[in-house]
This record gives sequence, structure tokens and C-alpha cells, in this order.
Amino acid sequence: MEIKSDYNLSSFNTFGIEAKAKLFVEINQESEITELFSLPQFKNNKKMFLGGGSNVLFTKDFDGIVILNKLKGIEIIQENSDHVFVRSMGGEIWHDLVIFCVEKGYWGIENLSLIPGTVGAAPMQNIGAYGGELSKTLKSVEAYNIESKGKKIFSTEECELGYRDSVFKNSLKNKYFITAITLELSKVEKKNLKYKILSDFLENNNITVKSSRDISDAVSEIRRSKLPDPKVLGNAGSFFKNVFLHKVKDQEKIQTLTENYPTIPIFDEGEYFKIPSAWLIEQSGWKGKREGAVGVHEKQALVIVNYGGANGEEVLDLVQKVIEAVKEKFKLELFPEVNIV
Ligand code: EPU
Repeated sequence: MEIKSDYNLSSFNTFGIEAKAKLFVEINQESEITELFSLPQFKNNKKMFLGGGSNVLFTKDFDGIVILNKLKGIEIIQENSDHVFVRSMGGEIWHDLVIFCVEKGYWGIENLSLIPGTVGAAPMQNIGAYGGELSKTLKSVEAYNIESKGKKIFSTEECELGYRDSVFKNSLKNKYFITAITLELSKVEKKNLKYKILSDFLENNNITVKSSRDISDAVSEIRRSKLPDPKVLGNAGSFFKNVFLHKVKDQEKIQTLTENYPTIPIFDEGEYFKIPSAWLIEQSGWKGKREGAVGVHEKQALVIVNYGGANGEEVLDLVQKVIEAVKEKFKLELFPEVNIV
């Protein structure tokens, strides 16, 4: 285990922002974790655990230690005729895990194809897309407590998963290092085609879903057509969360919005109505707009892009302008999904 100083993070964040970490270390084996936790460089510094760097915006150099999870391995730990438990180490690429599962014919995470980032980061924000969400298959999360150095296995309930949210982003922020997750997947067909964009795509392309692989391929194609490839154009996926309005508490707000904007897309999410922030941004005139090296993506208004050479402050300036424009027009507040450091 080698601790490096003054380490350039530009290839460790998909925004491609130039920033440095005072200290940087890679964890390649589980045994290195407790060793690291005992070192003064770890104990006496601010800590940041990093996976794929696909959900972070660096606005300045990080004056602490960055710990990169490189733990690898995917295994089937238990199965019967209907179900299978798959355990993956946190440093695996999320999409590699999806491919492992769809190639074996398992159902459950195919709608989450091509989400950038690592397996260890997935529970942090309870990744979701195209009608799927990690919470639906997650069985447990293994993590080390940075103070006691002990390993804890979190049940799904203990992860307190919400919309792009978990206990690891809140009360346990930076307190645990996630080493592995276990998923419970189905060996029998379990299609989830309720997301309209996905079902429309399948229909328009005359695709009959016969396997989870078919869904994975379709989701991948939709994503590739809309979301910019970070290798080409720096970005961190959706920059903002969608807006959720409480059906009862926000009734007046919902009524005003639907009266003033009859075409506003509203999705029923149980207790809440979801309003796509991408629509709000587009209607505020920001879709495809560029200011210097940063801009709002032309195909998906939730995505902020770095055209090259932008710094974090420039991204934040643009983000602030977008938030203000939406607030002024709709009286609604947008909140970043990305971690701002
Ligand atoms: N829309 C617009 N303008 C746009 C894009 C979308 O008006 O430029 C409206 C349309 O009404 C569309 C609706 O927004 O029907 C939903 O669009 P989309 O399906 O693209 O999804 P989203 O709500 O904008 C969320 C996730 C994405 C995920 C997609 C697909 C969040 C913050 N984002 O976006 O996740 O891929 O759904 O399920 O929930 C990410 O988190 O990085 C991410 C890309």
C-alpha cells in the first residue's frame, strides 16, 4: 500500500476537473483496510472514499486523504431454482456486474445498465434508472467502521435507502468504507417495463423481451443516445435530483403549476408527484446553453458538461444560474445530486 502526495485527481472524476488530493491511496485487498485505518496519515486527515468519481464535483483541491476502492471479485454465494445471491466487491465497475448477471440470465439489475461508477458507490445514492432502483435487489452491504476498524454487515433496512439517498450520505457519511454488496436476483423472468421511455423504445424497435440481456441492451442504447460519454465530454450524469411534491402538503403548488403549465409532465410516485427537473430546466431556456467551458447538455437538460478545461467554480456558477432561473419561473428549488467537494 503506497500513500502518494499531491496527487492529480483529474482522471478520477468523470467531470474531468483538475484538482489535487493532499494524500491518495488505493485499496486493492481487504487486509489493507485496517492497516490503513491505523496510520497517522489516515487518522489525522479529512477522508474521502472514491469509487468511479462519477458523482463528484471538485471545486478546490482536497486537503485530506482520498481512498480509492479497487477491491475486485464477483461470486455467486447461494442459489436455488428461483433465486440467486450475488456478492460483488466494491471496486468492481457497476456495469461489469450488470453484464455478469444478465449473461447468466438473472433478472433484477438490467434496468440499471451502463450507470457509471463502481459497485461500492451504488448503495451510497441508491442508484436508479429506467424504472429500476438498487433498493429492489440489495440484500446487504459490507463496510468497515473507520474508528473501531470493525466490519459491519448492513441489512437493506439499515441502509435507509431513499431517492438517490442512503444512511451513508447522511448520519454515517465518511464513517464507513464499503467493501462489498450482495444482491438477491431472480432466475425466473421478472420484466420491469413500466418506464415509458423504455417500453416505447422496445415497441418502436419491435423488440420482444426474452431475456434480461434484451432489457440491458435497450437501456444501454437509450442511455448512449441521450447521455454524454464522460470520456468524450466531462460530466457526472444527472447534476440535479428530480423534484418531488407531496400530494397533500404541496397540493396548492401542484394545482398552480398544472394550471399555469398544462403540459407539465407529472409522474405518480405514491405519496408524491415527481416533476422532471430536466423539463423545468428546459422550459427555463437553459437546455443546450453554454457559458465558456461549461454548459447544459443539449440532449438531457439534467446533465451539466465540461467542454474542456472548466474548473469546479465555473461549473458551480452555471449551476447557480440554472437553479435561480427555475426558482424564478416555477417557484421550485432544484437540489444537486452530485457531491460537491
Ligand atoms: N425531459 C425534458 N427535457 C430533457 C430531458 C427530459 O423535458 O432534456 C423530461 C421528459 O418529460 C421526460 C422526463 O423528463 O419524460 C424524464 O426524462 P428521463 O427519462 O431522461 O429521466 P430523468 O428523470 O431526467 C432520471 C435519472 C437518470 C436516469 C433517468 C432514466 C435522476 C436525477 N436522474 O433522469 O439518472 O438515467 O431517470 O431513468 O433521477 C443519474 O442519476 O446520473 C442519471 C443519469
